[in-house]
Amino acid sequence: MNEKKRLYNITTFGCQMNKADSERMGGILENMGFEFTEDPNNANLIVYNTCTIRDNAEQKIYSYLGRQAQRKHQETDFTLVVSGCVAQQEGENLLRRIPELDLVMGPQHVNRLDSLLEQVFAGNQIVATEPIHIYEDITKPRRESKVSAWVNIIYGCNERCTYCVVPNVRGVEQSRTPESIKAEIEEVARQGYKEVTLLGQNIDAYGRDLEGTTETGRNLYTFTDLLYYIHDVEGIERIRFATSHPRYFTERLIKACHELPKVCEHFHIPFQSGDNDILKAMKRGYTHERYRHIISLIRHYMPDASVTGDAIVGFPGETEAQFQNTLSLVNDIGFDQLNTAAYSPRPNTPAALWDNQISEQEKSDRLQRLNHLVSIKAAEKSQRYLNRVERVLVEDVNPKDTSQVMGRVEGNRLTFFKGDITSLKGKILPVKITQVRSFSLTGERVF
Ligand code: SAH
Ligand code: SF4
Ligand code: F3S
Repeated sequence: MNEKKRLYNITTFGCQMNKADSERMGGILENMGFEFTEDPNNANLIVYNTCTIRDNAEQKIYSYLGRQAQRKHQETDFTLVVSGCVAQQEGENLLRRIPELDLVMGPQHVNRLDSLLEQVFAGNQIVATEPIHIYEDITKPRRESKVSAWVNIIYGCNERCTYCVVPNVRGVEQSRTPESIKAEIEEVARQGYKEVTLLGQNIDAYGRDLEGTTETGRNLYTFTDLLYYIHDVEGIERIRFATSHPRYFTERLIKACHELPKVCEHFHIPFQSGDNDILKAMKRGYTHERYRHIISLIRHYMPDASVTGDAIVGFPGETEAQFQNTLSLVNDIGFDQLNTAAYSPRPNTPAALWDNQISEQEKSDRLQRLNHLVSIKAAEKSQRYLNRVERVLVEDVNPKDTSQVMGRVEGNRLTFFKGDITSLKGKILPVKITQVRSFSLTGERVF
């Protein structure tokens, strides 16, 4: 029988965690016989893997969904899935809002997409948002990159930052075992990957929920232990990780990063605010002094290390003087890059209910001022690369100039140089940096 190919498309919003989830769902769908198509309008099955970190992220997806939902009335072989953080947050409400949906599934259910779809194909409309033990994925992710692979090491988050939806939508911390993480890294190494990025919302929490570990630290298996354990996988040349939490970041981890040659000297450590009272209201569990101390320890061991982070402006009650403390921190640290956002009240988070909200106009004004400083400081940080020879891991062609390839230096700056992607992809090459900008570099290959 000559069966028509069934096509799928996944559109991903949000963080690396969601992107990694999409890659696993893609793997599962291909295992089920679906083939990927670039064009959602052409697909028999569409997944929207959604994000709800801020209101604008959430609203974006309703317009996409509205359009595709119409197809349910015209096509018989069409399946519409909403996964990710909006799915978890809204659950049954999504079905009320968009009755055409076939499947609404939270992030914890990603690895069981196949069994959920079987129920859908049997004629059911499914909402899968109950908390579950995340079981190991046995299918192969369909990875976007052929050079750099994401490897989830811990799901969920046990923190309770007062602005944040992540604990609500991603559930409690669940660490994968060191053995299964190492097996995945060995597998991607066999496939030719050169770099892995270890992922967790709070990567420093890794291991504390694993069986056989104790609160007293006797058998405690930490993220640092994991780094030593996975470091020597042959074929992997670079190891990155995100996201670090200043509350749990240790000197032992810094020493490990310094000692282990494959671990890149790049630290992504969100600080959120430079003001101690705001940090307290956010329930972050550290002071700006502690944050500064961590960064100076990092620079003590690795003077050239890149430091990036996240910050929020206009948190409820933030005064101009408190905002100035954030500017001072940014000025003093000199971030290589900073993800910045205006505070957005989120459902079922404490801060959303407070009556000291900052006006939208004030928030966007502060955001602009912060971004301006970030870009000046990043440009200053870029200066250190000028005329230096950096090792660049080539990832892809430069989409804006196909005579160039692009990749990253160890510190994670995006770097462009002339070359042919077919022969250079996946190689680590010496490149002399000839031009620097705030967030990217241009160079020439050194032979
Ligand atoms: N687990 C990481 C980050 C998770 S979310 C951490 O603890 O830092 C990514 C970033 O989104 C956060 O660092 C924060 O800067 C931003 N963010 C989270 N909730 C937000 C909200 N309600 N409004 C604005 N920005 C928010
Ligand atoms: Fe959200 Fe805080 Fe958890 Fe990060 S640590 S995911 S900001 S609750
Ligand atoms: Fe968004 Fe969920 Fe990530 S809310 S930022 S996709 S954890």
